[in-house]
Amino acid sequence: MGRTLTAIVAIAACAGAGLAQAAEVAPADVRIEDMAVKESLTGVPGNPEEGAKTLANRSLGNCLACHAVTALSQEQFHGDVAPSLDGAADRWSEEELRAIVVDAKQAFSDETMMPGFYSLNVGINVRKDLVGKTILTAQQVEDVVAYLATLKE
Ligand code: HEC
Repeated sequence: MGRTLTAIVAIAACAGAGLAQAAEVAPADVRIEDMAVKESLTGVPGNPEEGAKTLANRSLGNCLACHAVTALSQEQFHGDVAPSLDGAADRWSEEELRAIVVDAKQAFSDETMMPGFYSLNVGINVRKDLVGKTILTAQQVEDVVAYLATLKE
């Protein structure tokens, strides 16, 4: 009985993962048009609270290395090499914010120092274990975009 149950749970977990996988847009398939990514990368609404954590996390978004966000000002050092993200949602639509986070090189210009967080175009001499990987997962991008969409002044 215990074994059967474990097997069923395992199968159900695999099926769930398979579905999530299938619904996700692969990095190479993301279409940036008019500086916008119109469709969600996952079809699952972003979670703004998770997005704030991802944004501040040094090994994930690390956005605060360059940007300031007043609402997160107690958390850690904030960078000043890039514009403050306060009011970002007044300046950009959600579709535009998604494009900026996915691939700033395409959204802004090749010269931007902002990394592409859901792009395989990270440059030459990439460590072997990082080839084919993105900095953020598709859902982490959706979470960050959902958080940015709350930054109104
Ligand atoms: C290495 C520095 C750097 C990092 C890290 C970085 N950015 Fe940026 N970002 C920039 C710069 C610089 C600009 C301004 C555009 C330009 O000059 O290329 C910018 C522009 C933006 C803009 C548009 C600015 C506005 O509000 O008008 C948004 C939104 C943004 N970044 C979000 C993010 C998010 C979210 C992250 C983390 C997932 C992030 N950035 C990480 C450097 C960075």
